[in-house]
Amino acid sequence: MSSSPAELKTEWKSVNKTWGHPFHPMCSYMAMFPPGIPHYFIEKFTKRGDAVLDPFSGRGTTATQACADGRIGIGTDLNPLAYFLTIAKVDPPTLDETLKRIANLEAQQTAQNIENEPEKIQAIFHHQTLSQLVFLKQKLDKKNRTDRFIIASILGIIHGKMKAKMTDSNYLSVDMPNTFSMSPNYIKKYIAEKNLPLLPIDVFEKLRWKVDRLFRDGAPQKKGFASLCDIRDLPEQNIPAIQKKTIKLVVSSPPYLKVIKYGLYNWIRLWFLDIPQETVDKTLDDAHKIKPYLDFMEMASRQVFDVLCNDGVCVWVIGDVQQNGEENIKLAELVWKRLEQTTDFRLIQILEDPIANHKKVTKIWGKSKRGQATKIDRLLVMSKWKKPKISVNSVAW
Ligand SMILES: C[S@@+](CC[C@H](N)C(=O)[O-])C[C@H]1O[C@@H](n2cnc3c(N)ncnc32)[C@H](O)[C@@H]1O
Repeated sequence: MSSSPAELKTEWKSVNKTWGHPFHPMCSYMAMFPPGIPHYFIEKFTKRGDAVLDPFSGRGTTATQACADGRIGIGTDLNPLAYFLTIAKVDPPTLDETLKRIANLEAQQTAQNIENEPEKIQAIFHHQTLSQLVFLKQKLDKKNRTDRFIIASILGIIHGKMKAKMTDSNYLSVDMPNTFSMSPNYIKKYIAEKNLPLLPIDVFEKLRWKVDRLFRDGAPQKKGFASLCDIRDLPEQNIPAIQKKTIKLVVSSPPYLKVIKYGLYNWIRLWFLDIPQETVDKTLDDAHKIKPYLDFMEMASRQVFDVLCNDGVCVWVIGDVQQNGEENIKLAELVWKRLEQTTDFRLIQILEDPIANHKKVTKIWGKSKRGQATKIDRLLVMSKWKKPKISVNSVAW
């Protein structure tokens, strides 16, 4: 049976919101997409053992899903937070190794001086919890696989909502959202107004709880790769399928048109990683205007084209934008118009994926910025030279 482009559908919309491997929700990440999106394209365009890449990996959704589907998942990103989340998921230790290391750290723990920690950090953790976090910050080795998994697990629980009666929490901080770090001044006012308690939460106990949940379905079937890298340096990465240019599929959502400040809104997680928030916001790309955005997308598409195999497929997830209250701009269509003229990519399809407004993470900024947030995502699906066959088998959910 011959395949036709019309076979691509937004099937992931009908799948339960929590569908996917338990590693996916390890830590919240702004503008993350659901694992159902990469899963759908992985099943349509790849087979077991193929290499699948996301060069803007974020929390590592595509790379992790690829590993869970028995492919080699590769995630690269310029944000160190994204790197630590992705590498933890695609190259994890075993549950046994993780629990042993946690027990070993717990046995070694000593009280730490917390007075030199920033005031804004002292304001959100009980002094005993902060002492444990400072101890772990010093002990955990970012180059060690097991320690990286523990670091990423802590990033997932470092701040969040307390339980209803405010006498316990699955998170380590005072009551606050888990998705992003509120501004230090806002937190100060919020704590005073609501008279919020700082609970002495035991980091090791919560960490064990978190790790048990993460491993409840075991680790993903295959291991993958991650690197901290600017898309401009993608072809130089020392990852076999990139070096050999055998990437079969790319599924990725590139940076938006100026919506998200990953450093500013992750200052608590970045404190734990010992990375200044300014460095993150200075280095990441976010164009303010359409023309530089299209230039960036042309460059990014060329980089991806270079590492794809001859019938490889690239899926860019791009949200529509509204600027200055004007009409909806279908950015994905503008990107394709540019790529059609400047690259050898062929269009397979542009799929429309309407997003319910309440689901958008960007809503947290309130009205003023909400206008810029997308209500429709479009998936620009393109192939390199030879049109690949779309698998006619229905996707297994
Ligand atoms: C929309 S997010 C991707 C989210 C991801 N799909 C997920 O599910 O978590 C875009 C990503 O692009 C990254 N980024 C921005 N500029 C970059 C660059 N020049 N090179 C590589 N990554 C970059 C950001 O750090 C961010 O993680």
